[in-house]
Amino acid sequence: MQSIRGTKDILPGEIHGWHTVEDRIRHITSLYGYRELRNPIMEYTDVFKRAVGEDTDIVGKEMYSFPDRGGDSITLRPEATAAVVRSAIQHNLTAQQQIARVYYAGPFFRYERPQKGRQRQFHQFGCELLGASGPEADIEILALAHDFLESLGIKSRELHINTLATPEIRQQFKQELISYFSSHLSELSEDSQSRLQSNPLRILDSKNPGDKALSANAPKMQDMLDAESKDHFEKVLSLLNALSIPYTVNPLLVRGLDYYSHTVFEFTSTALGAQDALGGGGRYDHLFEHFGGKHTPSIGFAFGMERLLLAMNAQESIPEASNPEMYVIGFESDESRKAVISCAHALRIRSGKQVIVDVQNRSLKAQMKEADKLGIGHVIIIGPDEVLNNNCIVKDLSSGMQYTKSIDELDAFFG
Ligand code: HAM
Repeated sequence: MQSIRGTKDILPGEIHGWHTVEDRIRHITSLYGYRELRNPIMEYTDVFKRAVGEDTDIVGKEMYSFPDRGGDSITLRPEATAAVVRSAIQHNLTAQQQIARVYYAGPFFRYERPQKGRQRQFHQFGCELLGASGPEADIEILALAHDFLESLGIKSRELHINTLATPEIRQQFKQELISYFSSHLSELSEDSQSRLQSNPLRILDSKNPGDKALSANAPKMQDMLDAESKDHFEKVLSLLNALSIPYTVNPLLVRGLDYYSHTVFEFTSTALGAQDALGGGGRYDHLFEHFGGKHTPSIGFAFGMERLLLAMNAQESIPEASNPEMYVIGFESDESRKAVISCAHALRIRSGKQVIVDVQNRSLKAQMKEADKLGIGHVIIIGPDEVLNNNCIVKDLSSGMQYTKSIDELDAFFG
């Protein structure tokens, strides 16, 4: 029996990195006043079809969708934004002009070809700021994402940013792209040819060298911007400057989901290889209306947690896991074992110490060896003599110092 292709067991030996990332998530989101929203991992398929768009790769070929026993079409969430908006409308999170600041972290599912940094079950951490349209909201989200990456020590990274303006301008831009690329149809890759009518914007971020060369001369969104979109984008850039957050304006950045307008961005890392996006996001000012809600301009991002860990591992920025503090060692006699179990229990419950004891009735030597392997700070030995005298030998494994202490003194000794 094997795990499903594209899924991974996160083993005890690697969990410390995950906990480090999760601790930073809690810390940074609390600094910015974001609270966690835990959505179900499955939704009606329509939630994603409508939000992400029928012509996107995600909806077109990557969703885990199935009819449930009642005949409803259900999808394992491929992303969170659609579900967050569904849930915000359902629970009135942004009623009466309120804004909502939420974050999430958990598993997501996309049927993609597995490779380094790309899995079929992966994890995202994301934030969504619902109900604010100004550039101050954009900068809050961008600064939060930036501070989070800083706190993880991920240095080898770049922020790419672009504007997709309004849906009307985006539509015009699509038409211009269709006519430009149509006149170079035979030079386009097969993939891009098939996208030409349905999703021509995606040709701009194709990695195929021929497509790239054509995209360099393609019409630019920048040349079509209306005054308001231009003003919004310039204000966001000037706020990034004010916070000294480095960025590159990338006119070819379009993102793979249909709900975006105005600001879009991506954080990439050279530590990752082909799948170089640590995370991305942008504005989605019209998604609430699309779901039948009231106009609620919003912006957010999501990071891939596996990719954060890959980048952290590459830079060795994951702090060492701490080892258990103590190992209480006994001899092979019932009295000694009983004393060991009581002593360990008291140290855990009364002194809050992390304590390991042998549960296989092994020799003193085997226990010492295990304590050493676990990187334990102190061993406490309770042999037959110590049982008689109600004391123990405390050995500091790093200094080699050894003391005899009464069992009742241990609490005070370890403070
Ligand atoms: P996305 O760009 O589709 O955006 O995904 C965000 C991040 O999730 C990617 O940059 C990547 O790090 C990670 N990711 C995506 N697919 C995989 C995969 N198969 N394996 C490993 N990691 C993966 C969104 O999902 C939007 N909902 C972001 C957003 C939030 N926009 C506004 N708010």
